[in-house]
Amino acid sequence: MTVNVIYYSRRGKTRKVAEAIASVCGVTAMNIEEPHNISDTDLLFVGMGIYGGSPDPALLSYLDTLPVNTIKGAAVFCLSDSGRDRSELAVNLLTHKGISVYPRHLALRGRFLFLGARRPNEKDLRRAKRFAGEVLEAYQGDASL
Ligand SMILES: Cc1cc2nc3c(=O)[nH]c(=O)nc-3n(C[C@H](O)[C@H](O)[C@H](O)COP(=O)(O)O)c2cc1C
Repeated sequence: MTVNVIYYSRRGKTRKVAEAIASVCGVTAMNIEEPHNISDTDLLFVGMGIYGGSPDPALLSYLDTLPVNTIKGAAVFCLSDSGRDRSELAVNLLTHKGISVYPRHLALRGRFLFLGARRPNEKDLRRAKRFAGEVLEAYQGDASL
């Protein structure tokens, strides 16, 4: 199973989480703004910061231009001040491409004034790694997910 991890991160919080997830998958996390190759991916982790209530338009247009039928499944994670899941627009785009999105999304707190300055913390990164393990196990057990 070919697994890749891509992310869009303005301030580096999503990158940290992407790197934690990538370490579990044995791959290197890739910034969508840098040259990378995700053709023929079985499972794609997609990470995004939330800005103005949604993923950045750069991430959305990236997903919109993904070739059809080259990626089988995706799992989504997002970071925001609120810690709420605001990945809906990205999930819709992936689904529209025929990519099956893992039903549980990981939503973590980024920065909330001074309170969030140290987020993602060790606990967040452990959660991210558990999420990656859970998704990998689900896809290895059932390719139709
Ligand atoms: C311009 C801007 C707008 C933001 N808008 C929201 C928002 O609407 N809701 C929210 O919960 N967090 C919002 N945030 C906080 C980010 O989602 C948070 O800092 C997250 O960690 C960003 O990820 P990054 O460090 O990978 O860029 C905003 C941050 C910035 C810089």
